Amino acid sequence: PAPKPKKRFRFLRWAWRLTWLSGLGLTGAMVYSIYSLRHPEEQFEPSPDKKTLVILGTGWGAVSLLKKLDTENYNVVVVSPRNYFLFTPLLPSCTTGLIEHRSIMEPIRNILRQKKATVKFFEAEATKIDYEKRIVHISDDSEIKGDISDTEVPFDMLVIGVGAENATFGIPGVRENSCFLKEVNDAQNIRKRVMDCVETAMFKDQTEDEVKRLLHMVVVGGGPTGVEFAGELQDFFNDDLKKWIPEIQDNFHVTLVEALPNVLPMFSKQLIDYTESTFKEEEITIRTKTMVKNVTDKYIEAQVTNPDGSKSIEKIPYGLLVWATGNAVRPVIRDLMGQIPAQKDSRRGLAVNEYLVVNGAENIWAVGDCAITNYAPTAQVAGQEGAFLARLFNTMAKTDAIEKELQHLSDTQSQAKSNDERNQILDEIRERQKQLRRTKQIGPFQYSHQGSLAYIGKERAVADISWLSGNIASGGTLTYLFWRSAYLSMCFSSRNRVLVAVDWIKARLFGRDVSRE
Ligand code: FAD
Ligand code: NAI
Repeated sequence: PAPKPKKRFRFLRWAWRLTWLSGLGLTGAMVYSIYSLRHPEEQFEPSPDKKTLVILGTGWGAVSLLKKLDTENYNVVVVSPRNYFLFTPLLPSCTTGLIEHRSIMEPIRNILRQKKATVKFFEAEATKIDYEKRIVHISDDSEIKGDISDTEVPFDMLVIGVGAENATFGIPGVRENSCFLKEVNDAQNIRKRVMDCVETAMFKDQTEDEVKRLLHMVVVGGGPTGVEFAGELQDFFNDDLKKWIPEIQDNFHVTLVEALPNVLPMFSKQLIDYTESTFKEEEITIRTKTMVKNVTDKYIEAQVTNPDGSKSIEKIPYGLLVWATGNAVRPVIRDLMGQIPAQKDSRRGLAVNEYLVVNGAENIWAVGDCAITNYAPTAQVAGQEGAFLARLFNTMAKTDAIEKELQHLSDTQSQAKSNDERNQILDEIRERQKQLRRTKQIGPFQYSHQGSLAYIGKERAVADISWLSGNIASGGTLTYLFWRSAYLSMCFSSRNRVLVAVDWIKARLFGRDVSRE
């Protein structure tokens, strides 16, 4: 017989077996989750006498509502011009090809197919919400149109999660000459234009001034979108562009223009200073106290506040201009605000109460960037608002069911033949009433801030994290690793997680692709 291993080695052997078993368990769970995603169960149609719940949008607010909503309680209809959910926090990485755009998109059809009861989806834009008639007018805005491309969707309950559009403050030339960074096609557009500027600058006999202009990448808006994009673009230049096209080395330059005295106003002073010093190291120029007033196809005109307080106008030539100055209200929301007298003082979006009900409108709720609450317009807020509404609607459906049961019980109680039977029903009624009180105890929406994170380039990130009752501010490479793992774990699905991780590995091994298409 084989000699028994020493105690110490026996322990190691068991640890080894345990590691194997847990690895096997994890792989099994992953395989099962992929299998069940690929083979969804049969769905059933909710009964036609259920209320119709229409949800506008497929962004953070709407999708987090859909994820947690028990769809068997309502006839759910989703309307959005985008048939996918977009994980916006990683969108700046798509502008340089570090991440492929499809890695951060999740088809809405996949999401809806996983629900127990069917959900209707119409790829269309809501053009008008008639809150008195309880109708949404929708229009197919895609390239291919059928005989019917405009119609109406009636609703009993409506959730508006249409987000916001890009703010331009009516500054002339912005829409015609700059790129935005909100949607997938914006990121693709930027990626193409960066390479177009580079290749045009390399065109035979290009003058020196023109080469400088073409390789000047200007970002307007020092909020997190502008800062993250500037960081990603400088990384692209340092890691790839200057290796493959060394001729651009002396002229490629990124400038961030901000009207306020500093960038990232929502972060702590310490992190603002850290970001500004990192940008200096990266050779990104920050132009604070510089407000853009006019945009032409080759330069921007900005009002600069000089150190002595005087103001001057400066022309800044650019090859690529990315405009990231925050959010503005969408026309469909502005129109709805015009219909509701209680909304006459709102400017930045739909005013809602603490249950996210649109002030002055019954059975209409708003989530995310189109709603005005006390919180910043972020994915974190929109996601929590959507989840809150799912809880609210699930509770409302349960409450309705219990109330119906109570009605039925009190009818049968009045027809009961014996005292015993009557008492038995009375006990049941009391039990249901207790249940009803418990379900009705849903409090108003409360936002729990988990912190703010932003990538600033050079494999560094800044984070203001809420911890217990305080705040932790940190910046650097460790924060960057935290940023990566946090966003990887927040990705919508395992599929997204795998694709993003593969994109990061691909870029690390082979660099980013510098072809223009
Ligand atoms: P969105 O997610 O914008 O979704 C709106 C939906 O409505 C879309 O599906 C759209 O197609 C649809 N829609 C538009 N018009 C209509 C219409 N007329 N009818 C029907 N549907 C319509 N926040 C963070 O917390 N952390 C981050 O790291 C972060 N990074 C960001 C990076 C970038 C580049 C950007 C642009 C934003 C970032 N944000 C981040 C902010 C965050 O993305 C938004 O706050 C969030 O998307 C708001 O969610 P929403 O559901 O209100 O709108
Ligand atoms: P923002 O509103 O946060 O910042 C826009 C900036 O543009 C402001 O600092 C403003 O002073 C500046 N600006 C406006 N007009 C200007 C002009 N004419 N000239 C020069 N500067 C001008 O907008 P942003 O960055 O698009 O963010 C929108 C929302 O999305 C915010 O709530 C933000 O918190 C959130 N977001 C969060 C991210 C994160 O947490 N990592 C990343 C991106 C966005």
